[in-house]
Formats: sequence, C-alpha cells, structure tokens
Amino acid sequence: MNMQREHFETLTSTNDYIKTKRAAGVDLIVTADMQTGGRGTKGRSFSSQKGGVYLSELRFYEDFSAREAFQIMARAATAVCKTLRFYGIQPVVKWPNDIFVNDKKICGILIENTFSGDKIASSVVGIGLNVCNPLETELADIAITMAQATGWAFSVEEVRERLIEELQKPHTMDEYLSYIGYLGSRITLILGDERIPATLISVEKDGKLRVETEKGERLFSSAEVSLRV
Ligand code: BTN
Repeated sequence: MNMQREHFETLTSTNDYIKTKRAAGVDLIVTADMQTGGRGTKGRSFSSQKGGVYLSELRFYEDFSAREAFQIMARAATAVCKTLRFYGIQPVVKWPNDIFVNDKKICGILIENTFSGDKIASSVVGIGLNVCNPLETELADIAITMAQATGWAFSVEEVRERLIEELQKPHTMDEYLSYIGYLGSRITLILGDERIPATLISVEKDGKLRVETEKGERLFSSAEVSLRV
C-alpha cells in the first residue's frame, strides 16, 4: 500500500494540517521536519524541534465499528515499537498510547477520529518520535531520544521511512499487548480529581485496563483514566 505523501520543512501541527485535507476523502501521510505548535493529548503541547519524526496519517473507513476504535491506537503503537526494535531499542507501551524507553517517553501518539453514526469514518493518527531532536530542560527527566537511548547518530529520514513502512503493515492486537509495560507494577490512575493507587494486571483485547485496587479488580477505558507510572 503506497499512500499519498506530503512533506514540509515546518508546519504548526501535522495533525492540524492533515485535518484540512479530510474533504478530499483520500488517504494521506503528512510529515514535517519540525512543528511550531505540536499538539499532545489532553490539550498539552508536544515539543517538536528539528531532529524528530513528526507525522500524521489520514485514513478513511467504509465499515469500522466505533467499538473497535482501540485497534487504531494499537496498530500505531505497535508500528512505533517495531521501528524502535529494529534499531535495537527495547520499548514498552505505557497504556494506552505512550512509548517509553528506560522509564522515559520516546514517542507520543494523538488520534483524532471522525464518526458517522456508530462507525469511524476517518482517523488521523499523529505520531511524534524523538530521534535526535534537542529536548527542553524541563523534559530531561521525563523524555528521551533514540540518540540518547543508544549513543548513536540517526538519520531522521531513514527512521521516518521505516516508521511509515511499519504503519502501513497490519499489526495484531496480540503484538500490541506484547509491548505493554509496567505489568504487575504499582501505578496511579487519574480519574478526574481522584487518584487511585492500583497494581496493573493486564490490558484486555478491547484495550481496557485491568487493575487491582483496594476495592478489588476494576476495568477502565482509556477515555476514563490516565495512568502514572
Ligand atoms: C502525546 O504524547 O500527548 C501525543 C503527542 C502527539 C504528537 C504528534 S507529532 C505529529 C502530530 N502532530 C501534532 O500536533 N501532534 C502529533
């Protein structure tokens, strides 16, 4: 599958740009060398200096139940993990959509779907992968680049092409589940203003998180809670 491509030196946000292309109804991949207004989940910004991979993929679907939406996340996260593994880096997924190496974030994924009734009409998968981009001082303790993780120099273009290749392959939910990190670890779930201490048991095939809390075993969807490790 060879999707249409557009590349820019600078964009505000590849996700924002690609959303302006939805009307054309054609699958598309947009990449940029840097972003001036990179967006993360929950209205946060995403550091996007030159040296990282910043890409968005727009796909249209005919018959994709909204109940299966987690598969989009799983496919993207697995593609990132396989790309990192190719370079000898051992990533884990911090459920649902962050990729961590050495307990620091190396990649974030932002998915923005449109719906038609109970079906997903289109998805935008935005991926920001730290390759050899400088990270702001305040990110030093929580984020990492591929260069820092390995001590190697990387070609951003090469990593980008490999990631795009992986993104266009099918990946199974089992593959995604094999990358889930922090199983058996003590974690904190953020549910609105509530902080729930728990032990992470598993991620289910539908993407729900199974945890043991002081009130017993509970299941949460990624829309309900965020996870702190
Ligand atoms: C997160 O970690 O909260 C998600 C970060 C997603 C960042 C990517 S970079 C490419 C695409 N364009 C954006 O503005 N955001 C996503």
